Amino acid sequence: MANPFSYGGIVSARQFCNRVTELRELVRAAKNNERLFIHGERRVGKTSLLKSVMSTLREAGGICFYIDVWKCVDEADFRRVCASALSGYALEKGKGALGKLAELFSGVAPSFGIDESGKPTVTLVRDRSRPEGPDVEEILRAPGRISAMEPGRPVLVVFDEFQQIREISGLKLEKVLRSVIQEETGVAWFFCGSRATLLREMFLKKGSPLFRSSGHYPVGAIGFAHWRPFITGEFDQSGKKISPGTVRMLVQATGGHPFYTQMLCSALWDISGHTASESDLEAAVSLLLDRESGTYATLWNSLPDQPRKMLRAIALEGTLFKPTSGDMVRKYGFSSPSTAKSALLYLLKHDHASQDEKGGYHLSDRFLGMWCLRNVAT
Ligand SMILES: Nc1ncnc2c1ncn2[C@@H]1O[C@H](COP(=O)(O)OP(=O)(O)OP(=O)(O)O)[C@@H](O)[C@H]1O
Ligand SMILES: [Mg+2]
Repeated sequence: MANPFSYGGIVSARQFCNRVTELRELVRAAKNNERLFIHGERRVGKTSLLKSVMSTLREAGGICFYIDVWKCVDEADFRRVCASALSGYALEKGKGALGKLAELFSGVAPSFGIDESGKPTVTLVRDRSRPEGPDVEEILRAPGRISAMEPGRPVLVVFDEFQQIREISGLKLEKVLRSVIQEETGVAWFFCGSRATLLREMFLKKGSPLFRSSGHYPVGAIGFAHWRPFITGEFDQSGKKISPGTVRMLVQATGGHPFYTQMLCSALWDISGHTASESDLEAAVSLLLDRESGTYATLWNSLPDQPRKMLRAIALEGTLFKPTSGDMVRKYGFSSPSTAKSALLYLLKHDHASQDEKGGYHLSDRFLGMWCLRNVAT
C-alpha cells in the first residue's frame, strides 16, 4: 500500500482535511463580490483552500482567475501572468468567443493553438500598433468586462503570494488595483499571502493604497476534532491502524498545522508496523529532527544573540503571547522590553517566526521548535 499522506504540494479531494466552514464562507464571499485579504502562516493550507474554493465556484458556474504573484519579477511579468490567467477563460469559451474576447483589450486578441503534448493553448497576440501589449490597468479591468458579458455568473480573481507585488513595483500596482477594485464591483477580489507583517501594512496601515479596501480573513491550523477522523481514516484505508492516544500526541506536537501534521503522519506511516503507537511517533519525530538537524544547527549558530534568545523563548512557550511583557522579559533574560521586541521583529522579518490568527507567536517551522527543546533549551 502507498503512503496516503502528502505534503509539499496542493492537496485536494481525499487528501484535503476539513475546511468546511472556510470553504462555505469563502464561496459565499466570492458570490457576493467581496474583497478580502486572506492571510495565514506559511504552509498552513491557503493555496489548497483557495483552489478548493475555485473548483466549488466553477462547479456552480463561476469564472475564476488565479494569479500567482510569486512568479513575477517585474511589472511586465505581472502583466503576462495576469493575461495568461485570463486566457483560461478564452479556452473555456472556445473559438466562438474570439470576437467577444478581442473586445476585452483593444489591440490584443487571443489566438488558439495546440502545444507539443496536444493540449489546446491560447496566447494573446499583440497588434503591431501596440507592441507593448495592453497596460496593466486594462488587463485588471478585464474580469469586470467578463462579468458584464456573463450576467449571473460569479467572477473571482485570486492573487496568491500577493505581498510580492510591492517588491515588483513599489506602490504603483497597489494604486492601480485600488481604483480597479473600487470600480469593478461585479467581481470578487481575494488577496492572499503569508507574510503577515507586510500584508497588514498593505491593508491596515493608513496611507497604503489598499488601506481598508478589503475585509480580512485569517486561515489557521486545523483542529484535533477534524484531524482525528482524517488521520485514523487514512491509516484504516491504507491497511494500518493508529491508536487514539498517538493521534492526539501527533496533533499536539504539530499544533494541527497542516503541512507539519501531514509530514509527521507520513513519517509515522512509513516507520510503523501494523499499528502506529506512541513509541513509533517518538521515533518518527526523531527521524525528522535528525534529517534536519544540520540545517537547524546552522540556523541557530547564525542568529545574533538576542533573536536566538527569543527563538528559544518561543520554542519553550510553544505559543508565545505578550513577548514584551515584564514577565517574559525577566523570564528569558532580555535587558528591556524594546530589546525583546527587536529580537522578535528580527525573527518575523526573516520568517523564522510568525503570528497566528489569535495573536500568538510560533516558530514558523514546527520541527525547529522541537529541535530547540531537545538540543538548546536547557
Ligand atoms: N486542508 C488540508 N488538509 C490536509 N492537509 C493540508 C490541507 N491544507 C494544506 N495541507 C498540507 O499543507 C501543505 C501546504 O499546503 P498549501 O501549499 O496549500 O499551503 P500554503 O499556505 O499555500 O503554503 P505557502 O505559505 O507555502 O504558500 C500541503 O502540501 C499539505 O500537506
Ligand atoms: Mg500557497
